[in-house]
Amino acid sequence: MVNHDRGIKIMRLIILAPPGGGKGTQASRLSDQYNIPQVETGKILRQAVQEGSQLGKDAKSYMSSGNLVPDEIMIEIIRNRFAEADCQAGFILDGFPRTLQQARALDKLLDEQEVELDAVIYLNVPVAVIQERLSRRRVCSDCGATYHLDTKPPGQTGICDSCQGELIQRSDDREEAIEQRLKQYSSKTEPLLEFYQDKGVLLEIDGAQSISRVESAIDTALTESQ
Ligand code: AP5
Repeated sequence: MVNHDRGIKIMRLIILAPPGGGKGTQASRLSDQYNIPQVETGKILRQAVQEGSQLGKDAKSYMSSGNLVPDEIMIEIIRNRFAEADCQAGFILDGFPRTLQQARALDKLLDEQEVELDAVIYLNVPVAVIQERLSRRRVCSDCGATYHLDTKPPGQTGICDSCQGELIQRSDDREEAIEQRLKQYSSKTEPLLEFYQDKGVLLEIDGAQSISRVESAIDTALTESQ
């Protein structure tokens, strides 16, 4: 859909990838580029855990063991988030949908709003690369910014460039939890590739390249798809 007032295309995107595949890294950049909110379900859940809310209490054990939080909870989160004004200008979904039930619920929500997805960006990243990325990832305990000790290091060791918060390792970036997250991805999330391929909106990107090459590949694929 085109916003004729400003001549800017409203983008409604999903970014799909295995755990640690680079969803957050690319979604944050696309959010700035298209001036659309990044709807990051993992971050929403982590904030709820930190605040000790009922949602956080319900989600905590699923997350720390590397399992998916139940569909009903996730669908409700997205329904509420979509009701906020900023999502009228488009969105980039980072971490949702993750199951066929979530994807069908999203279809229903979009139908209700009489809008369509522009693209589902799929970052294809092999398991060996993922394990290395997650074990070397550090996140800011205050603002959630993501770093990698080798490919995206902070200016000052252990300190966030944006807010000077402390950099920590996520509790689900332990070996056992990573293994479980990968199992969940292959059994529950991978079927979405065919679901979106059949709808003709899937854009497959080689996500094992450097961050800047992945950025360029996404930009090219989005331009060509319009
Ligand atoms: P979530 O936070 O979504 O975790 P995830 O899917 O495992 O994804 P990550 O955040 O770990 O990785 P990413 O793909 O964003 O990669 P990143 O950019 O950080 O969800 C956490 C948990 O919440 C789930 O396990 C589940 O329990 C629950 N949950 C959330 N949504 C749910 C839903 N819809 N349904 C049910 N449960 C849900 O990159 C990783 C690292 O690699 C970083 O260090 C980064 O700097 C580096 N890097 C990125 N790109 C590159 C590159 N191209 N080259 C080199 N390094 C790179």
